[in-house]
Amino acid sequence: MRDKPDYYAQLAKKEGYPARSVYKLQEIQQKFSVIPLQGKILDIGAAPGSWTMYVLKLLKGRGSVTAVDLQPLHPDIKSDNLLFFQGDAFSKEFTAIAEENGPYNTVISDAAPSTTGNRTVDTGRSGALAAKVIETAQQLLVPEGDVVIKIFQGGDEQELLSTVKKYFTRAKLFKPKASRKESFEIFLIGKGKK
Ligand SMILES: C[S@@+](CC[C@H](N)C(=O)[O-])C[C@H]1O[C@@H](n2cnc3c(N)ncnc32)[C@H](O)[C@@H]1O
Repeated sequence: MRDKPDYYAQLAKKEGYPARSVYKLQEIQQKFSVIPLQGKILDIGAAPGSWTMYVLKLLKGRGSVTAVDLQPLHPDIKSDNLLFFQGDAFSKEFTAIAEENGPYNTVISDAAPSTTGNRTVDTGRSGALAAKVIETAQQLLVPEGDVVIKIFQGGDEQELLSTVKKYFTRAKLFKPKASRKESFEIFLIGKGKK
């Protein structure tokens, strides 16, 4: 049970981010430098938009973000450098948009399935989403591009890690400090698409 907003939730509120998840990407960026400062970034599962907002701030108008989610972004997130599509990231419609705007320097995905409470079902769905993100990254990243993918632990994360190792120079599973201790999420980082 979570009755009190934690440190990261309070910080997000203070800094104007719609979700505390921003600090996970910030930590990943500090450790792995996944967002080049003039990059073209594809943000999958972007709503309510704290990762998108963070990336736009880093880019300072020099690159662009293509973002997609089934849900809308927070209405305050607007930028000339942002293209947002509301819908399924793996639909034909969005795939065409993503292809037209690519290739990308980085694909970031915090996408999560709607959870059932059944860990086997939930990790299975998360793994299936992650596999689709890896496929998208292979198709739409520039050579040397990077990928960040959220997955739920306890499913096929080792297999997914092996797949990323095959297509990227470096691959690692990483649990940011900002990720809640009770959460079974972990991030798969792929650096340098071969
Ligand atoms: C944890 S939230 C992302 C939070 C976001 N990174 C932020 O910082 O504000 C996960 C999101 O994944 C989205 N999602 C799950 N499956 C998706 C799909 N197939 N296509 C697009 N978005 C999807 C959900 O709608 C949800 O908004």
